[in-house]
Amino acid sequence: MQQLNQLRQHLREHSYRYYVLDDPILSDADYDALFQQLLSLEKQYPNMITADSPSQRVGAQPLAEFQQITHRLPMLSLDNIFNEQGLQDFDRRVHERLLLAHEIPIHYVCEPKLDGIAVSLIYEAGQLVCAATRGDGQVGEDITQNMRTIHSLPLVLRGDDYPAWLEVRGEVFISKAGFAALNQKALEGGDKVFANARNAAAGSLRQLDPKITAARPLEMICYALGFVEGAPLAQTHSETMALLKNWGLRVNPISQLCVGVIECQQYYQKLCETRADFPYEMDGVVCKVDRFVQQQTLGFIARAPRWAIAYKFPAQEGITQLERVEFQVGRTGVITPVARLTPVKIGGVTVSNATLHNEDEITRLGIAVGDQVVIYRAGDVIPKIERLFRRGETRQPIVFPQQCPECHGRLERSETEAAIRCSAGLACPAQLKETLKHFASRKAMNIDGLGDKLIEQFIAQGLVKQISDLYQLTLDQLTGLERMAEKSANNLLIALEKSKTTQWPKFLYALGIREVGEATAFNLAEYFENMEALMAADEQQLLAIPDVGPIVAQHILIFFQQPQNCQMIQQLLAAGIRWPRIEKTVGKKPLQGKLFVLTGSLTQLTREQAKQQLQALGAQVSDSLSKKNHYLVVGENAGSKLTKAQALGITILTEAEFTQLLNHS
Ligand code: IVH
Repeated sequence: MQQLNQLRQHLREHSYRYYVLDDPILSDADYDALFQQLLSLEKQYPNMITADSPSQRVGAQPLAEFQQITHRLPMLSLDNIFNEQGLQDFDRRVHERLLLAHEIPIHYVCEPKLDGIAVSLIYEAGQLVCAATRGDGQVGEDITQNMRTIHSLPLVLRGDDYPAWLEVRGEVFISKAGFAALNQKALEGGDKVFANARNAAAGSLRQLDPKITAARPLEMICYALGFVEGAPLAQTHSETMALLKNWGLRVNPISQLCVGVIECQQYYQKLCETRADFPYEMDGVVCKVDRFVQQQTLGFIARAPRWAIAYKFPAQEGITQLERVEFQVGRTGVITPVARLTPVKIGGVTVSNATLHNEDEITRLGIAVGDQVVIYRAGDVIPKIERLFRRGETRQPIVFPQQCPECHGRLERSETEAAIRCSAGLACPAQLKETLKHFASRKAMNIDGLGDKLIEQFIAQGLVKQISDLYQLTLDQLTGLERMAEKSANNLLIALEKSKTTQWPKFLYALGIREVGEATAFNLAEYFENMEALMAADEQQLLAIPDVGPIVAQHILIFFQQPQNCQMIQQLLAAGIRWPRIEKTVGKKPLQGKLFVLTGSLTQLTREQAKQQLQALGAQVSDSLSKKNHYLVVGENAGSKLTKAQALGITILTEAEFTQLLNHS
C-alpha cells in the first residue's frame, strides 16, 4: 500500500511539474514507465485502487444523462469594452464607487480572456468531487466524469493548507494545435469537423461517454474562486492565484499586476500584438480589481461584477461575398480551391482571399458563388471561410474542374487523402514552375537571381521542360528573353555554375520528394552516404531514420521507383552537380541518436547555428514534432509546438537549459 501511494504521489508531482510549472524533469518514456508500474501494481492488488489514483481518470460507464447542479454562488459573466475610452470609463466608475481620488491608481490584474467554456470545480478535503458547467449561471450540468479526464487538472490537491470546501473556476479550452489535430483526425475518419476550437471544447465536454472526452485534447486554466468555506484565503486576486498554483491547479503565468489603467492599456496592446504567438485562442483581456475588499465594495450589477471588465480584441470575423473560386495547382499537383472575396477588413487587415482546402470542405460549408460568408482570421493562420451567412440571390454552384486548370491533364483523387491531383507531373506547367522554384530556393540549390518571372518565361518559351534543362541554358537563349541584359544573363549563368557545387543534404532536399523537408533530407543524408545507398534502401531501413514514418518512407520509395526521377538525377549529376563527401566525424558524439526540434526565437544563437552545433554533437534536428522527438528547445514567443510537445510528453528545454546542454556535452 505504501509503495502504491508513493508511486501515485510521484506521478502527481511529475504531472504538476509538467502542466502547472511547465518545468518537467522526467522524459515521456520515464513517466510512461512509472505509470505502467502503477497499472501493474494495481492489477495485482485491485482492491487497493482508489478513485483519486492517476490511473482512474476515465470512468467506466457512460452516463444516461447529465445531472443538474445548482451553483452555491452564481457564475457571472463580464461586461465588454472595445477601446481605450471604455477602459478609462471603467476605471472612473471604479474610482467613484470606491470614493477614491482619480490620482490614486487602482491595482488591477490583467489576464488573457480565454475563448472556451467556463467550468466550476469543487474540491472537498482536497479531492475533486464535482465539476459543473456554467449553464444559465444558476444551474449547470454535472460533468465531473469528463473533467476528470483532463490531465492538467489535479484529482487531489497538493499540500495541506487548502480549505475543507473549495470551489475553483476556470476556462476549459482546446489549443490551436490540439484543434488542428482533432479536425485532421475527423477529416481522415470521415467525421464532421468542428467549426472552431471553442465549439470543439464545448462538444467534448458534452459527451456522455468519458472515453470520448478523454481522447480530446482539453486543457483548463483557473482564474477565480467560487464559494469557499471558512476564513478568507487571501486579500487579493493575485495572492489567490499563487495559492491555487501551489495546490496544483494550473493558472495563467502571463497574468500581470497593473498599477493604474495606463498599465492595463499597455498589457492589452502587447497581448493584442502577440496573441497569434500563443498556443491557444484568446478573445480579449480581463481586467480585475486586485483587492478583495475593493471588489466587495464594488459588488455586482445584473449578471456582471463591477470590479472586472472584458476588454475585447478587435473582431476576428467578418462577413463578405464570395465572388468566385479559382483553382491553384501546387508543386505536387494538388488542386487547391481558393476563394476570391469582396475585400473586407478583419482585425485591421484587409482579407480578399481564403483557402477552401479541398472539395470536401466546399461540400461541408454548403456555399456557392454569390453567397455572403463568414470569414475567420485566427491571426497566425490563413483566413478561412467559417460558414455560410446568407445565400446569394443568384447563386452559382462551385464546380470542381474535371481536368487540370493549367494543363488540362487528368485529375486523380487519392484514396488516402481528400486531395485531388493533376496526374501530368512536370508536363504540367504549374507543377514544373513550382518544382523549379523549390529547386532554386535558398535552402535547396540556392540559385541566385532565378526568380518567379524568369521561371515563367523559361516555361512559356519551352526552354526548360525539366530541372536539368536549367544547366543547359546558353547566353544566347537568355539574352533573347524579355528584359534580360547580357550582364544579368551572365550573372545567372555564373549562379547556375556555382550552384553545382552543393551539399548532399541540400541536393536531396532540392529534389522535392514529397514530405521530405530540409530536416528529413538532412537525416537521410546522415544515414545514407550517397545516392546509390538511398536509392537501394528498403522500407525497414527508411523507418529506422528519425523523422521518417510510414508515409514519408512510402513517398521516398515511390519517388525512386519512377524511372523519370532516376533519369532526372542522372542528368543533374551529368551536368556536373557534386558535393564534398562528408567524412563521418570521428570523436565525441554525446547527443548521438537524440532528436531535437527548435521553436521560437533564440537570443544567443541563430536557429541555423543551434542546428549546426546540435548536429556536430551527433543529434538530429527535425522540423515537425512527433513522439519520436526527445527534446523541444523553446525560444521566445514559442507557438503551437510547445503545447503539442507538452501533449506528447516531450522534454522541453528553455534556451538557458539548452545552452548548458551544448556547453556540457
Ligand atoms: S473572470 C465574475 N477571467 O469569460 C468574473 N473570465 O464573458 C468571472 N473568461 O464566463 C469571470 N477568461 O468563461 C474571467 N481570465 C478570465 C477569463 C474569463 C475567460 C470567460 C468566462 C466568463 C466569460 C465572461
